[in-house]
Amino acid sequence: MNDRREFLKKAGLLLGVGFTLPIISNVLNSCNSTVNPVGSITVKITDYPALSNIGGATSVTNAGFNQGARVIIVRTSSTTYNTYSGICPHAGCGVDPPSNNQILCNCHGSIFSTSNGSVLRGPARSGLPLLSNVFDNTTNILTITG
Ligand code: FES
Repeated sequence: MNDRREFLKKAGLLLGVGFTLPIISNVLNSCNSTVNPVGSITVKITDYPALSNIGGATSVTNAGFNQGARVIIVRTSSTTYNTYSGICPHAGCGVDPPSNNQILCNCHGSIFSTSNGSVLRGPARSGLPLLSNVFDNTTNILTITG
C-alpha cells in the first residue's frame, strides 16, 4: 500500500514538473524583450538623411546587437538622440521601421511614439525599451549601448 502511495506521489510530482516547465519556459521567453542588449554599435549619423532634422527617425540593425532586431534612432536636438530597442515589449516581435512619428509592431498591432517610445495603441502595455547612447559631435558618431 505504501509503495503504491509513494509511486503515485512521485508520478504526480513528475507530471507536475512536466506541465510546469513548459509554462515557466514560455514566461521566461516572453521576458526576452526586456533584456537589454550586450555590447554596443556605432552609427555615423551623416549616413542617414532621415536624421538630418530634429524629430527625424530611422532604424538600423546589426546581427551582433539587440538579437539582430532593429534599433530605433530619433534625433531630439542638434546633438542628442533617443534610441530604443525594436523588440516589442508585448510578445517580442520585431517592430517596423519608424514612419510618420510612429513605430508599428505588425504582430498584434501595437503602435509606439517615436518621440519617447511610449505606447500609442496596445496590446503592448509598456513602451519600447530605451537604449543608452553617446553622441560625438566631432565625428558624428552615435554609440548605442544597452
Ligand atoms: S508582439 Fe508587438 S504587438 Fe504583440
